[in-house]
Amino acid sequence: MTRILITSALPYINGVKHLGNLVGSMLPADVYARFRRARGDETLFICATDEHGTPAELAALEAGQDVATYCREQHAIQKEIGKRFALSWDFFGRSSSVQNRELTQHFARVLWKRGHLDVRTTKQVYSHAEKRFLPDRYVIGSCPYCGYERARGDQCENCTRVLDPTDLIDPRSAVSGSGEIEIRESAHLFLKQSEFVEQLRAWIESHENDWPNLVLSIARKWLDEGLKDRGITRDLEWGIPVPDDIGDGKLKGKVFYVWFDAPIEYIGATKEWADAGGKGDAWRGWWYGEAAKDVRYYEFMGKDNIPFHTVGFPVTIMASGEPWKLVDRLKGANYINYDGGKFSTSQKRGVFMDTALELLPADYWRYYLMANMPESSDSNFTWEHFAGVVNKDLADVLGNFVNRITKFTAARFEGCVPGEGSYGAEETGLIVELDHRVAQYSAHLEQIEFRKALAELRAIWVAGNEYLTRAAPWTHIKSDRAKAAAGVRMGLNLVHLLGHLSWPVIPTAARAIHEAIQPAPKVIPWPGEPMAEFLDALEAGQQIHAPDVLFAKVTDEQVVEWKVRFGGETKP
Ligand code: 2FM
Ligand code: ZN
Repeated sequence: MTRILITSALPYINGVKHLGNLVGSMLPADVYARFRRARGDETLFICATDEHGTPAELAALEAGQDVATYCREQHAIQKEIGKRFALSWDFFGRSSSVQNRELTQHFARVLWKRGHLDVRTTKQVYSHAEKRFLPDRYVIGSCPYCGYERARGDQCENCTRVLDPTDLIDPRSAVSGSGEIEIRESAHLFLKQSEFVEQLRAWIESHENDWPNLVLSIARKWLDEGLKDRGITRDLEWGIPVPDDIGDGKLKGKVFYVWFDAPIEYIGATKEWADAGGKGDAWRGWWYGEAAKDVRYYEFMGKDNIPFHTVGFPVTIMASGEPWKLVDRLKGANYINYDGGKFSTSQKRGVFMDTALELLPADYWRYYLMANMPESSDSNFTWEHFAGVVNKDLADVLGNFVNRITKFTAARFEGCVPGEGSYGAEETGLIVELDHRVAQYSAHLEQIEFRKALAELRAIWVAGNEYLTRAAPWTHIKSDRAKAAAGVRMGLNLVHLLGHLSWPVIPTAARAIHEAIQPAPKVIPWPGEPMAEFLDALEAGQQIHAPDVLFAKVTDEQVVEWKVRFGGETKP
């Protein structure tokens, strides 16, 4: 049997993430992990905070804390919010862990011994205003390829090309805006990526049929442009130290580049998981050699992360010559915009995970975001659209359906599944339709096609709702109690079905829906087939419970209020 390993791109430590970060990686990874567990697959879902690099140092400085304390606190905050969003990580680790330090140093040593690293003198940007080297993303300027004016020194957000700070035209400090910067020489370790171009190309092309176009095209663009050797160390204080036995004594006091150690933390966090649970070597069984042969590895990330996962991390693994697992399927997301502009952490523009939960429970956001996931192109969040989707799909269709049938059962059948009457043509037709739709929904989820999957899920909710309207037990109850009973029985079986099918996407509401019918296990399993059996499985006489309102509607007043509150106008 295949085991399923799932990682979501590691959120940076510097503050609570916005909904764009959530929908790009953590949320789809969670929906997929839940789906796999529901299907009975042995699944391990790993995430962690990405704690190194300048963003962490500067955020700590701003918060008036030392970096270690800052990271410890922020990790706890992100973990707590993730839980409240029902992100079902098996482990949420930290890239600053001992496990990651050891693994990162291990990879570097192996790469050094095998001759894939060398020491080169580089020119680095030193800022007089900050009295420090300014790595990569804190130098901004114009992109030499596309001309974008706020390109960062590590990557151009506009054309996704990876850059070197010294590539930028008119460079300046992103922290102080100061152009008083100086280029200084500094020795650094380089990974000779160019040696792996052919091996990488063969690997990438071996996935031409199972990677999405977005991922393939970004990966190919990189190779076609010629792969540059990559600096993997930095002049920073906070980070994983370069061990003394690497670099012929020229690298004292340097740390590894955050993008070198962060992906290794996928493995590191798996080791953290094993260590925390007293599972010994189990982490290796997910990652290394023969033991991991039956593992299928899925990665979820936003599109700006694709180069690091199709080239950067794979080269580290290939260069080690060790049989670490390479990714099997990558899901890359486009961006979601906020009211026509960008979500922005630095400008605090958009909705962040903590404030989102002050407004509405997690399931409202989970459903909206997954149904509108930026899969084939960027998508756009507006409050009107959000309110429309919540009110229509969640309140009018799903909530209303569950409410109507459970309330009616309570009022007219003593809150029990009625045993009278039998299914007729109406029910048979519905069963045929659902056999097809459930199979489609499952196939789309398996293929990680979330928009299609969610459209199918919604269609299933609609089919239930429309069935009930046609079956109209409230009309038949007066003249033909057996017919009304059959309709109610089907309705309750449908509620049960929706509890199962909705669980990967809206786990809390799905549990409440399921528990209207019967207690729900921790993992609500995928419904057994065929539908004819599943939809006739409830015992006559079984007691059910009408839940409270499942989804409240978003009012026009709320939309107005939230638009003002979250407008995101940049402060003058
Ligand atoms: O872009 C980001 O948010 C990064 N922190 C993702 C890192 S993913 C991994 F490789 F660690
Ligand atoms: Zn560019």
